[in-house]
Amino acid sequence: MHELITLTSNLREPAREPVACANGNGPRVFIQTYGCQMNVSDSQTIESMLGEAGYRFCGTADEADVVLVNTCMIRETAEVRALGQLANLSSLKKRNPAMVIGILGCVAQAKRREILESHAYVDMVVGPDSYRRLPLLLEERFISAPGAPGLLETTLMREELYDDVLPRHHGGVTAFVTIIRGCDKFCSFCVVPRTRGRERSRPLPSILREVTHLTEQGVRDVMLLGQNVDSYRWDDKDFADCLLAVAELPAVSRVRFMTSHPTDISEKLLRTMGEHEKICPYLHLPVQAGSNRVLREMNRPYTRERYLEIIALARELVPGIALSTDVIVGFPTETEDEFEETFTLMEQVRYDTAFMFKYSERPLTKAAQRMKDDVPEDVKVARLERLISLQQKIARERNEAQLGRQTSVLIEGLAPKDGAMWAGRTPDFRPVVLPKNGESVGELVPVRLESLTGFTFHGAREN
Ligand code: SAH
Ligand code: SF4
Ligand code: F3S
Repeated sequence: MHELITLTSNLREPAREPVACANGNGPRVFIQTYGCQMNVSDSQTIESMLGEAGYRFCGTADEADVVLVNTCMIRETAEVRALGQLANLSSLKKRNPAMVIGILGCVAQAKRREILESHAYVDMVVGPDSYRRLPLLLEERFISAPGAPGLLETTLMREELYDDVLPRHHGGVTAFVTIIRGCDKFCSFCVVPRTRGRERSRPLPSILREVTHLTEQGVRDVMLLGQNVDSYRWDDKDFADCLLAVAELPAVSRVRFMTSHPTDISEKLLRTMGEHEKICPYLHLPVQAGSNRVLREMNRPYTRERYLEIIALARELVPGIALSTDVIVGFPTETEDEFEETFTLMEQVRYDTAFMFKYSERPLTKAAQRMKDDVPEDVKVARLERLISLQQKIARERNEAQLGRQTSVLIEGLAPKDGAMWAGRTPDFRPVVLPKNGESVGELVPVRLESLTGFTFHGAREN
């Protein structure tokens, strides 16, 4: 069963593998990253710190002296996947007892003691707030005898990761930049506030410094990241100001962002999007459910009606905007009629993309503490399948309606299946391939959308 489906975008594709590099001659590190873009971005920052400390990177755990697993626990399947990786590491460690194994990320934060107690071969457990200490922790590890008791480093010291460490960029024209960490929303189903801590905005000058550094390495398309970007605040600047400041950097061609929250999104943001060409007309606005009672139980403080008003305003202020969402089916106590309200909301909005999930009970959340996970698995599966087929049909129709449109494509690289074609995306994030004709990577090319294969467009250059 699809746990997560991606119809027209790869926004949440699995984290990419680290590339091998040969600078320095220190111990070799392999980082395996699971979870959301936050984790991808954190892993890049960690690579940058370790690279500066003289570590090298390798492409597999077998050849590594240090293996770091950056974990996710948003749903049970994510946690099982990350912890399953640990079992494989245990046999590697038997063969190479000097190997250092570290668990990072959200599971590390929420389950630190359990991991050390039940996985004797794990050397360190480091939560997202303590990554700055990783070089020191590893150094201590290499000095102290292998087999010494595992280290636990969590929130005791809260040190922000990014103010002076620039993440290692893996090449390419697109990059993630974290602007706000943590989350204060406490949706009743969600573990993130427990793993990522309170909301903290990053100073705007530090964001601009990082984006400038990225553009010097060829980045043209910047995705600003946060669990709830709309509550960004630094000095007297809000999220719309931050977005505009990034868009105004001359070397930036496009800026995107995620995630927005229906309670905090502002009219000013939508106006800014509509007025500025470099800000992509794409909005990821998770609705989670279409029933007001379920939304209340989820601690999502907006109604279906208010949500639909925001969507209408977005479509008015940002013509041609592409919309995406997250939806949960089978939240505790959700009835068939209430699920139907999610179904009709999706019919009404007609999203371009949707990420649809079965409710998964998570430790430390209000829903887990107060509600029984009482929607049977087969009912969850049936609801999910209905939504997925609805959304596939809508996404296809919305794509077909784009045919013939003139737009622009930012060239990201060669098309994976055909070296004579470029691959890129439209501003509203639709994948396009087009014949190579002297363009270069990072260039914005005027294109007409001519045909569709699956969810990929075939474009022709317009002059
Ligand atoms: N701040 C982001 C959340 C990231 S988690 C946001 O508000 O979108 C991404 C999505 O995972 C959430 O929007 C939600 O739809 C889903 N999710 C979170 N907890 C879940 C759970 N316990 N079971 C199923 N899906 C969950
Ligand atoms: Fe989780 Fe809600 Fe915060 Fe998103 S806004 S990270 S769903 S608590
Ligand atoms: Fe997963 Fe943590 Fe991101 S739980 S979705 S890696 S914030």
